[in-house]
Amino acid sequence: MPANPSPLSAPTAEDLHAWYRVQSAAFAHDRPGEPVPSHAAVQARLTAPGGRRQVLWLLRSPASDPVATASLRLPAGGAAGSTPGDAPTDRNGGVAGEIRMTVHPAHRRLGTGSRLLATVTEAAAAEGCGTLVGEVTSGTSGEGFLATRGFVPVLRRTWQRLALEDVPAPVAELPGVPHPGYRLTAWEGAAPGALAEGFTAALRSLPPLPPEAGLAPGATRWDASCVHETAELAARRGDRLLTVAALHDTGDLVGYATVLLPGDGARRARQYDTAVVPGHRGHGLALWMTAELLRRLTAAHPGLTELHTAVPDDNRHLLTVNAALGFRPLRRTVRYRHRLRTR
Ligand SMILES: CC(C)(COP(=O)(O)OP(=O)(O)OC[C@H]1O[C@@H](n2cnc3c(N)ncnc32)[C@H](O)[C@@H]1OP(=O)(O)O)[C@@H](O)C(=O)NCCC(=O)NCCS
Repeated sequence: MPANPSPLSAPTAEDLHAWYRVQSAAFAHDRPGEPVPSHAAVQARLTAPGGRRQVLWLLRSPASDPVATASLRLPAGGAAGSTPGDAPTDRNGGVAGEIRMTVHPAHRRLGTGSRLLATVTEAAAAEGCGTLVGEVTSGTSGEGFLATRGFVPVLRRTWQRLALEDVPAPVAELPGVPHPGYRLTAWEGAAPGALAEGFTAALRSLPPLPPEAGLAPGATRWDASCVHETAELAARRGDRLLTVAALHDTGDLVGYATVLLPGDGARRARQYDTAVVPGHRGHGLALWMTAELLRRLTAAHPGLTELHTAVPDDNRHLLTVNAALGFRPLRRTVRYRHRLRTR
């Protein structure tokens, strides 16, 4: 590997293929038993990073075999040269950069990851990042790697899978069960005009994200712009974002559940958020909304076979709701954070 590899400025089709070779080999190695993502899905992540800027590195051996990949995701404006308000800042006074580094399994423990991390860290600091965040699968090499390089764990999540054919019968019947005082509504993409304000208010009433988890670079809580960005990114990739929400008799939007349907025809969809505002918890709304989402998904998309989601380990309520829906654990991940500089 060159001492200081250069970022990939304009990936060619061959670069994308090489990138996929690293990703697919690492996926098969690090997540045995899980289906390896398609070339199209991996490519979509590279070519449509949504409202974010992305710096990429692709390392090859002297024989030109692909050895490692890295990406650094930054808010669109970055931090360097931005004025306050241009880009979200973390508690460290800079933007949070999100890293994803992958070394091909055949080339690990030879120092490539360490040198690549040094390169990405240098680039992040030059972009004005105060924090780097990265997520690894628990029990894999990435955990030992980041933990011994100044990263600290900030968020532990369990990824879960629901086989749609295994949805319990009571859940299938739940959408028709009245919940006095509440009714359900649904939309695709961004929240429609009449509901947009209520949706934003519902988001604001939710507890903040774990400090500096950086689920969106620099974000400390979900807000309308995060959701808008998610909807925009989904549309750009050809994916579809479906939401079911619960409305109180007062007309207030008091909860929602969202699923991302892949545009590449994959049979797996991703459940994003499930949230109920604090004053309306304990009425079974999360289960009700998700049961309705499942009903709509299976009716409109018979080719879909499974749903995946990630739940923070301290969210006992959602873990209980998901267990009732038939979700089963798939793997655990740890999100790490590293402070690059202090003020
Ligand atoms: C983590 C990863 C990038 C390391 O790449 P690498 O080229 O092997 O890294 P290096 O050779 O520079 O360093 C290896 C270090 O990782 C850690 N590590 C690697 N394998 C490990 C294992 N099985 N158990 C514990 N620690 C391990 C150790 O600290 C090791 O140092 P050592 O060999 O001196 O003991 C690579 O294993 C990988 O791609 N993993 C999957 C993706 C991932 O988790 N990325 C992490 C950041 S987003």
